[in-house]
Amino acid sequence: MAGWDDGGFECFCRSDPALLAWCDMTDLKKLIRPLVRELHAYVPGEQPKIKGLIKLNTNENPYPPSPKVLVAVKASVDGRLRLYPNPTAERLREKLARLHRCCSENIIIGNGSDELLALAVRAFVEPSPKSRVQSPKSIVQYFTPSYSLYPVLAETHGAATQGVPLNPDFSLPSLPELKRAKVWDFQAALTLITTPNAPGGRGYPTSELEKLCRAQKGVVVLDEAYVDFADENALALATKHPHVIVSRTFSKAYSLCFQRVGYFVGHPELIAALHKMRDSYNVNGLGQIAAEATLEDLGYYRANFKKIIATREGLSRRLTELGFRVLPSQTNFILARPPRFPAKEWLQTLRDQKVLVRWFSAPEVQEYLRITIGTEAEAAALVRAVRRILPG
Ligand SMILES: Cc1ncc(COP(=O)(O)O)c(C=O)c1O
Repeated sequence: MAGWDDGGFECFCRSDPALLAWCDMTDLKKLIRPLVRELHAYVPGEQPKIKGLIKLNTNENPYPPSPKVLVAVKASVDGRLRLYPNPTAERLREKLARLHRCCSENIIIGNGSDELLALAVRAFVEPSPKSRVQSPKSIVQYFTPSYSLYPVLAETHGAATQGVPLNPDFSLPSLPELKRAKVWDFQAALTLITTPNAPGGRGYPTSELEKLCRAQKGVVVLDEAYVDFADENALALATKHPHVIVSRTFSKAYSLCFQRVGYFVGHPELIAALHKMRDSYNVNGLGQIAAEATLEDLGYYRANFKKIIATREGLSRRLTELGFRVLPSQTNFILARPPRFPAKEWLQTLRDQKVLVRWFSAPEVQEYLRITIGTEAEAAALVRAVRRILPG
């Protein structure tokens, strides 16, 4: 019987001359859909294989999950792993519904919020060939700069992308400004807003977001991946406006990147549409258990938010003193323009000093480094590295 131990594609291909010849003769690219051939994949931040680097590049939380979460996960690693998990993460949805004072029908859990963002594109946006004049029904709209996954999701689906610039300081353009500029589409099928913004870090007032939501005719997703580090959140808009969905994740503030758990809060009709599109068992069982246990120990996480915010403010001050231009942040990272030489060079120079940060090539942000807020000790190590790099 065929099994995983009987060869594998690589060995099979190399050891079978007939298959090798077939591969040579066939243009395998032709077997791939034209749309997929043209795609550019999302580039995630580096997960380094070498030890000893201070990892400030992917906005992970520097503190571990609560000890109660670790106990709950370890206690679940037994013979039950043979069973499928609850298909809709029912208990987790009920707990979240109590937390957010809504019903579990308002909530869908995803394999990270990334999965849900992809489902939103597939459920709410019509694919359309590039050659055709784009109807608003095919438009995925977002501000630039914001989460670089959005255009990738739209392109994967064959939808049109509409990236509209934020103000030069990465603040949100006002409604009259958007109307005047005429590039914003108030009819777009799906509008994705990162709030607080990434990679800029700015928080947006809920009152401004509400004005924008009111003006949009299509679905609006407020992506609040970093909201626990901010002064305000816009969750109330999801229960007030039927076309508004708020996206949250356990990855950043709740130290669970590894488990991949995110969720949407929205009107039951939109949420039901997303349920239709997801895999039957989209959220793994240990992830569900970890997220449930997280909600039982929110005090632990709130204490961590405070530590991270204090480190963020201290690091911003020290980098400013060293000549960096640090943008105000409401997240667990800062966007900072380094002095003396280009940001791309800083990326490598800091890596040589064993500090890993992130640099994006997009024109609006290529002069900046995005630096995740680590522990106090990691922030101090970064400052020491910067001092060593800066001449004099
Ligand atoms: C703005 C934003 N939204 C969503 C996500 C995805 O988070 P998750 O880990 O829940 O998929 C990220 C991750 O970097 C992010 O930066």
